[in-house]
Amino acid sequence: MNDDDSSDKLQADLNDAFVRLRHFAGSMVIFALLSSGVADLLAKSRYSLDRLADMGKWDCARLRALLEFGWKEGLVGVVEGEYYATAELERCLRLRGWFELMVGGYGNIFLQLGTALRRSPRSRHPKILHRNGRYVGRGSCNMSKYGAFRLINELIERSSNNVREIVIADLGCGDAAGLVDFCSRRPDSFGVAVEPDKAAFLAAKALIRSQQLSHRISTVNCSCADFLRKRFVHDPPSHLVLSFVLHEILGTRGEKGVTGFLSAIRRRFPRCAIVVVEVDESFTKEQLRDSQIGLGYYNAYLLLHTFTGQQLMPASFWMTLFERCGYDVATTKAIPAAADPLGAEKGFLLLPR
Ligand SMILES: C[S@@+](CC[C@H](N)C(=O)[O-])C[C@H]1O[C@@H](n2cnc3c(N)ncnc32)[C@H](O)[C@@H]1O
Repeated sequence: MNDDDSSDKLQADLNDAFVRLRHFAGSMVIFALLSSGVADLLAKSRYSLDRLADMGKWDCARLRALLEFGWKEGLVGVVEGEYYATAELERCLRLRGWFELMVGGYGNIFLQLGTALRRSPRSRHPKILHRNGRYVGRGSCNMSKYGAFRLINELIERSSNNVREIVIADLGCGDAAGLVDFCSRRPDSFGVAVEPDKAAFLAAKALIRSQQLSHRISTVNCSCADFLRKRFVHDPPSHLVLSFVLHEILGTRGEKGVTGFLSAIRRRFPRCAIVVVEVDESFTKEQLRDSQIGLGYYNAYLLLHTFTGQQLMPASFWMTLFERCGYDVATTKAIPAAADPLGAEKGFLLLPR
């Protein structure tokens, strides 16, 4: 036993540790309630345990354990034996993207951080850890609904004056929620949803079908680079969208990989405008330490990139690179401050020179 383990000191230390463990378990449970569909049902109506278990074909004892955890955490309410979603769980439903990305998409990465620190004996670069692509795509898109998609729509509209037919190829589209949103607003537009991750691609296909947009949005399961070698309906596109994708290419293929890719776009689609969205990583350590979004989100987001083969850069890096590749950066804009108070998410409209 340690001399410092007087009962008061031990209790105080344990209480601090419990706060961290509570938030860890709480976030996992919130993700379970969201991803299973329990939260959606409880937000619509009140259900007894048996009725709820039957609706989702869930095991009664496990469902009860989850709901009781949720009740103690203020996520689930009970009246006369019937469960319902509290205002707190409804808030989590609205912000589900953040839980889907961080817990569903990157949860397995957090568990591997310690072992993955080791140097690789055979290579200068450590092994890239693989995320859950379905939840990275879906979570990112559900977050983008609060900022990036609006910005993308605005930049596309702004550059569509002399365009005969708007055809948007969304490269790395996740579950294609952005493209579905744009094409629903503009009945005269067409889309191509491009996504290399198989699970995210299938989710994109399902969403497009469910919105009855399959006749206007086609789907391709491949990387950005492979896409340039394919032909598709409505070829060539008037706009390419690269939303939170270039830093993925930079992390795996380096700067040469990105410039090679942008130059290949210029050769294949010489008149096509490009909308890029990236996280400008030029915030200060103090901004990250002293804000809720810094400590609660960006601190973990930045950490994960090093382990998953992604590389964020300051906006100035991207502007120089775009110009070097033959594009004028017509507009840059941050997303609305409510969704990103540090103003890190930035959109760029690139027009070929
Ligand atoms: C963070 S998500 C962004 C999803 C969506 N574009 C948005 O704005 O929310 C990044 C997506 O890029 C995809 N991606 C990664 N590398 C790619 C590549 N080389 N070509 C195309 N897509 C890629 C991932 O599978 C993932 O769905």
